[in-house]
Amino acid sequence: MKAVVTGAAGFIGSALCHRLLHLGWDVQGIDNFADYYNPELKRSRIQELSTLEHFDFSDVDVSRLTEKDLTSGVTHIFHLAGQPGVRLSWGKSFLPYVNDNIRATQNLLELAMSLPQLQRFVNSSSSSVYGERASFPALETDYTAPHSPYGVTKLAAEHLASLYGSNFQLPTVSLRYFTVYGPGQRPDMAFSRFVRAALYGETIDIYGSGKQVRDFTYVDDAVEANILAATRENVEAGSVFNICGATSISVNDTLDIIAAITGETLRVNRVDPVPGDVSRTGGSNSRAQDMLLWSPQIGIELGLRQQIEAARRSC
Ligand code: UGA
Repeated sequence: MKAVVTGAAGFIGSALCHRLLHLGWDVQGIDNFADYYNPELKRSRIQELSTLEHFDFSDVDVSRLTEKDLTSGVTHIFHLAGQPGVRLSWGKSFLPYVNDNIRATQNLLELAMSLPQLQRFVNSSSSSVYGERASFPALETDYTAPHSPYGVTKLAAEHLASLYGSNFQLPTVSLRYFTVYGPGQRPDMAFSRFVRAALYGETIDIYGSGKQVRDFTYVDDAVEANILAATRENVEAGSVFNICGATSISVNDTLDIIAAITGETLRVNRVDPVPGDVSRTGGSNSRAQDMLLWSPQIGIELGLRQQIEAARRSC
């Protein structure tokens, strides 16, 4: 099996590369070290991966990728590159969201059409396609109405993946991840910030009441979902799956868990809610359970413990 992993230097992408290599795949990682967060952190992940056999790396922007940049005989594409972050996608910052989420996905789908041995194209979507909802859990067949420009670009990319499936039978699958966390989490995300603040005695900013709820999903579960989405037979081209931990919990309650695990008293500062943030996410993962035979294995307490232990080791 020969995989291309875009966003190989990122949080989920690098974890997926490690897992694929462990399973004996050949992996070509692609990343352009975008500066949404510290590129040095991303470079160190690629340095570590580059010490492993069967890993090659290309420093390319996916929106500019051409056939000559790809290794021969690609059997699977895992598309994890993109401009992340719900709250920063307004105003002048919108442009990289359009380029890195929409144009890059369209370019990669076009390239994928010319790969004779391609078996599956796994696209990364997001819970943010659902927006503010009145009822839970969200089903893949439900109406989508993103609440942030970021969500709009992720939904556009997901639609592109599905329509290359329906028009050309390109074997695409989109995974809607719900707030993925765990060791190596992006430094701008909530748990990375909360854990860092707890360990260094810094103040945590909570946006709004802290009563907002997320269906947090552990990174290894997200990685496993990618592998199953790539390898299960009889997955219809253009399919979409919720990948969610089924452990909806409020941000305030996660603070209590972090305080209990670290043994620290957390210093919390309540600031204004941020536009684009939804008050709740929560998905049904029945479709992924039925068709991919995927189910989340790590609950929030164990997952947070792992993230805190990893952060302590790198202190
Ligand atoms: C995350 C990712 O950042 C997106 O890329 C992804 O697509 C999205 O999940 C998703 O599931 O679709 P988010 O849920 O905002 O977005 O993840 P966090 O940054 O971990 O925030 C979780 C909650 O903590 C949010 O309600 C946010 O308001 C809150 N938060 C975050 C704070 O109160 N303070 C902070 O410093 C950071």
